Amino acid sequence: MAYRDLRAYLETLEEKGKLRRIKKEVDRNWEIAAVCRQLFYKIPPERRPALLFENVKGFKIPLVAGVLGASRQIYAIGLETDSFEGITSKWVEALGKPIPPRIVKSGPCKENILMGDKVNILNLPAPVWTVGEDPGPFFTAPYVITKNPETGARNVGTYRMQVKGANKTGFLIGKEQDAGLHLRRNDQENKPTPMAVVIGADPSIGYVSVSKVPESMDEFAVAGGLRGEPVDLVPCETVPLEVPATAEIVLEGEIPANVRELEGPFGEYTGYMGPAGQQPVFNIKCMTFRNNPIYQAFISQRPPSESSCIRGIGREWPLYRHLKHTLNLPIRDVRLKEAGGSGAYVVVSLKKQFDGQVKQAMYGVWSQRSGFGKFTVVVDDDIDIRDDFAVDWAMSWRVRPDKDVYIERDVQAVGLDPSQAPPSVPQHDPIRDVGSRIAIDATKKHDYPAIAVPPREHLDRVAAQWEQYGIGD
Ligand SMILES: Cc1cc2nc3c(=O)[nH]c(=O)nc-3n(C[C@H](O)[C@H](O)[C@H](O)COP(=O)(O)O)c2cc1C
Repeated sequence: MAYRDLRAYLETLEEKGKLRRIKKEVDRNWEIAAVCRQLFYKIPPERRPALLFENVKGFKIPLVAGVLGASRQIYAIGLETDSFEGITSKWVEALGKPIPPRIVKSGPCKENILMGDKVNILNLPAPVWTVGEDPGPFFTAPYVITKNPETGARNVGTYRMQVKGANKTGFLIGKEQDAGLHLRRNDQENKPTPMAVVIGADPSIGYVSVSKVPESMDEFAVAGGLRGEPVDLVPCETVPLEVPATAEIVLEGEIPANVRELEGPFGEYTGYMGPAGQQPVFNIKCMTFRNNPIYQAFISQRPPSESSCIRGIGREWPLYRHLKHTLNLPIRDVRLKEAGGSGAYVVVSLKKQFDGQVKQAMYGVWSQRSGFGKFTVVVDDDIDIRDDFAVDWAMSWRVRPDKDVYIERDVQAVGLDPSQAPPSVPQHDPIRDVGSRIAIDATKKHDYPAIAVPPREHLDRVAAQWEQYGIGD
């Protein structure tokens, strides 16, 4: 049965030994970020737990981090599966058979309602992430809900938010993001954009929020498809939007049209500081929350991180679907490598049917409305693209640099790519928007000699009598 809310999910994580409660008092101004980073440095993914900080100095609200993606193993639990293959089938199912949300009258997220001056987001234990560089605390796991002003289609997206006061945040939404399009459309007509921000909800909502779901799809319906049951939504108090009924914390308000203020700098998913720039603001009119709410953060900054894990998986399956089912290309697998922040570096394996098809795959990757694939590598389907060594082997011996490397100039850049401009160039400068991409065709272009390893039957025979050699494992 689907997780009803974040709490039910945390119980399951704890039962499976994947949640550690931290009772020691921690300082949100420096300590939480350092503990989360050490979690990635010290503990390998298969043993890495999510964290519940029960005692944040100066705050009554506990904080959870890493609960959606401290590792792929945790991601699998979030989708109620026990294997990486299960993650794939859940995504394929959700995108193929979305389940529309159900509107209900009320829910636990309405247990407390604060209006106007009573709103105070400074009570939320948002950490300072890149201490000494970020200007203050940021929300890293907001699920931002907006509607397309023309079609009314709902969108959920995660765009980190800078806490700017008791009822105000700044934020940065990439121009290609769905909410960025809604905002620009309203700006053109000088209308404010209604917005609701959810912090803490059942995991399916977080997974769609960070994933590149096609704009035409209702992301709550995709979340329904992921969890196998509809998401219950309740109407907001002050804006014409709906939010998950069992959300922990909801902020309602609007983005005033054409207002820009200084936002950032912020320690980014690329692993570098992103510069400050003129960005929109969110004015909060109402805050609703459950009794004893739980605050959720995503662990981001330099990859690997929770951010690169959850974005990578949530982008791979929509991209796979686009290449395989929309473009009808014989794709075996698609990988967004975490070192590239799950955006800059894409590897595709293809069962090539004819010459020239590799270019179709490259342009297929680049045809998405995102800057993904600054590096795009296409390999044959005998290469396991989850194995870096195998990809490097294909790059080493199946590429002729003078013929198999393609450079595309003046195209959309990967968001926040620090190679675009020095830190003194502000984030909103258009020089950051247009860049270039490289694709490498690492497939075989003619018949190849046999692979130089012993025959399979000899390997199997030796494996079956391995103890007799006395070598050990
Ligand atoms: C921790 C975290 C922080 C993110 N911050 C931003 C951000 O500040 N701006 C942005 O445009 N995308 C950000 N993203 C990426 C978007 O969430 C992602 O591209 C998502 O697909 C956007 O939703 P949309 O496709 O509905 O627009 C962030 C992702 C994560 C996991």
